[in-house]
Amino acid sequence: MKPSTIAIDGPAASGKSTIGELLARRLGYLYFDTGVMYRAVTWAALERGIPIEDEAAVTSLAERLCIDVTPPTTNDGRQYTALADGVDVTWAIRTPEVDANVSPVSAYPGVRRALVAQQRRMAAGGRVVMVGRDIGTVVLPDADLKLYLDASVEERARRRWREMRARGEEAGYELVLASMRCRDEIDSRRAASPLYVADDAVVLDTTDLGIEEVLAETERLIENGEWRVESGGWRVEGGGWKVEGGGWRVEDGG
Ligand code: DC
Repeated sequence: MKPSTIAIDGPAASGKSTIGELLARRLGYLYFDTGVMYRAVTWAALERGIPIEDEAAVTSLAERLCIDVTPPTTNDGRQYTALADGVDVTWAIRTPEVDANVSPVSAYPGVRRALVAQQRRMAAGGRVVMVGRDIGTVVLPDADLKLYLDASVEERARRRWREMRARGEEAGYELVLASMRCRDEIDSRRAASPLYVADDAVVLDTTDLGIEEVLAETERLIENGEWRVESGGWRVEGGGWKVEGGGWRVEDGG
């Protein structure tokens, strides 16, 4: 038996979407990156001239906006096609402008309420890999397997910077690093569903690991049935698990 609902959380550029997508493909599951929804709302607010600091207006937009994610409709390297009220926003939601505004938007409780309700509906049938910041803690607290991917902020900024350059975008590494630090700060300190590790999540530090190594480790967990949640979940003798440089070690803490 394999886990039917898989939650993957972690900070920006920790490898969540790459691993999530590959894992979903190998398992034949639906892949859903919830960050797309927060980005689509942010894009729509900017596009419509709604001030980002106007919480009521942004929340009302999140409640009304029709966000759709479909298999790729164009062969341009995209993982999926994202539509906001029918407009293809797949690349538009990845701009520095959206990056700079998405954290405050995702900190609004009303925005989260609207989007989380949709996310739960999507996962209701199982066979899904859902990726985000609060999937294992809030959206799907009963997920069969919870992964938390992490990496140093410098490594994550490097990944994001390389991605941007590959798309032909001019961006200085220092600027990308500063923006990453800023988002980390807002995402983990906000009052509504801050980013934190679920008690029963498996933590993988991907700083020094390649994609294939992380994927192999994840598949090993699944194959060995180690994902099965028993009393106390994943925590073994009061500790979580963490991969560092390919080896497992027990984290301390209750
Ligand atoms: O993963 P990402 O960079 O595409 O996410 C964009 C923003 O959305 C990020 O600042 C955090 C937020 N987000 C969230 O708060 N909850 C989620 N489940 C997914 C993303």
